[in-house]
Amino acid sequence: MKFLVGSPHSEGAAVSELASWASEQVGIAGDRFRGTVDACDINEPSADKRAITTRHLQIDPEPYRLPNGWIPQRVVAYGSTDPFIDNNPLVAAAASDFVAEILKTTNRLATTNEAVLTYLSSCRPRRGRRPTVVTKGLIDLDPGFGRWIQSLPDAEQLRVVAQPWSDTPTILHNKRDGGIVELPNSKFLRALTGGANDGWGVRERAAEEAEIIRSHLAENAAMFRRGPLRIASVGSGTGEPMMDAAAAALLQEFGTANSPMITVYGADLNPSSLAVAEHLASTRFTQLKFNSVRTNFLNKVDLRSFLSKARPHVVEMMGVAEYIPAEGARVETERRQRSLMRKVGLMSAEEFHATIYDSLTSGSIFVTGNMSTDSPEVDFVQHGLGWKGIIPRSTADYLRVLADAGIPGAAVELHVPNPGDSSGVYTMVSIKRL
Ligand SMILES: C[S@@+](CC[C@H](N)C(=O)[O-])C[C@H]1O[C@@H](n2cnc3c(N)ncnc32)[C@H](O)[C@@H]1O
Repeated sequence: MKFLVGSPHSEGAAVSELASWASEQVGIAGDRFRGTVDACDINEPSADKRAITTRHLQIDPEPYRLPNGWIPQRVVAYGSTDPFIDNNPLVAAAASDFVAEILKTTNRLATTNEAVLTYLSSCRPRRGRRPTVVTKGLIDLDPGFGRWIQSLPDAEQLRVVAQPWSDTPTILHNKRDGGIVELPNSKFLRALTGGANDGWGVRERAAEEAEIIRSHLAENAAMFRRGPLRIASVGSGTGEPMMDAAAAALLQEFGTANSPMITVYGADLNPSSLAVAEHLASTRFTQLKFNSVRTNFLNKVDLRSFLSKARPHVVEMMGVAEYIPAEGARVETERRQRSLMRKVGLMSAEEFHATIYDSLTSGSIFVTGNMSTDSPEVDFVQHGLGWKGIIPRSTADYLRVLADAGIPGAAVELHVPNPGDSSGVYTMVSIKRL
């Protein structure tokens, strides 16, 4: 535990003992998980059987009414079947056990007032922060998993979560020569991202997004026969789940021969993620063009200019709302994040959602979502993986952001994960410009 020795925060032997205990717990949990993973093959369905299937149940919006009377127009509970989890029950159970053990350890550390042990912040060593006792232990478990944790939250690292298969490498942009690099993922990493509940959540939200886009296309088929489907992806990252969703929706609605082109405008801060998005668009999709726009979408002028250039039928934003602090923040970390952003003139979650809604043309949609506070393993992302800055929200808090943004309830279709039939990770919304 070299990084704890001599720490100014250290309270001596007790801290050192707790750190050793925590490190040992991470090692034991990791060895147990590795034992299961090594003992079985990951069962990979053929490529045409890897898609997640979703199902929907329309439910009463009344329980979602806010105290000021604001109520979503329609509420759908969604569920899904995930081929990775279905085909690999032992691995999925071992992943749950591993996550639960790590959470036990982080919870024990969190009960102390010792800063070094409780500081489970976004510990990305390459960004100049030291790993905590837990993230250091996790990094040491497996080289592939270690590299992955240290690269979070770059969007390139989502590919192994969305597609935990041995023939689907991580794709990276080499900043030095501008080339594209394919990196195979370790079995340990694939077992964890495939088996963990949050992994299911990422795959499930992409499938739900595809369904929302498909039904929008079905309702407006005549419009899309005349020209390309235009998508603005806000915080596109590598854009792959969105491009897959749009391509699948078009194929289902129009078939290959009649399928219109898709024009995507992707806004992101990270030039490497955008380079990977361009690579994927040109190598994986024949009827799709991806236009990169490197921008900070929390800058109002830049967001407006991006949206006016894209003139989208669909604005999509997945895995992003939980990075945007609200003016009406409910928890201290979020209030602090908001205060920092306010100082540099960046928009709040409310202003940001309002800017998107106001920029849409009538009939177009904005598909988005937020990680839920009810997500069964939410603490793992925040504390286990050290991704502390993320802002999970309750459904009511998320709806409050939309209501405070001035978006009418009549424009909002809420998609809530159906308890017991879904991962329970993401609350999603489809907002139609009235
Ligand atoms: C978790 S990733 C999600 C990527 C993608 N939507 C997906 O579902 O695969 C979040 C993305 O938002 C981008 N991002 C976060 N804050 C941003 C900001 N203020 N302006 C532009 N991009 C931002 C990050 O660079 C990252 O690519």
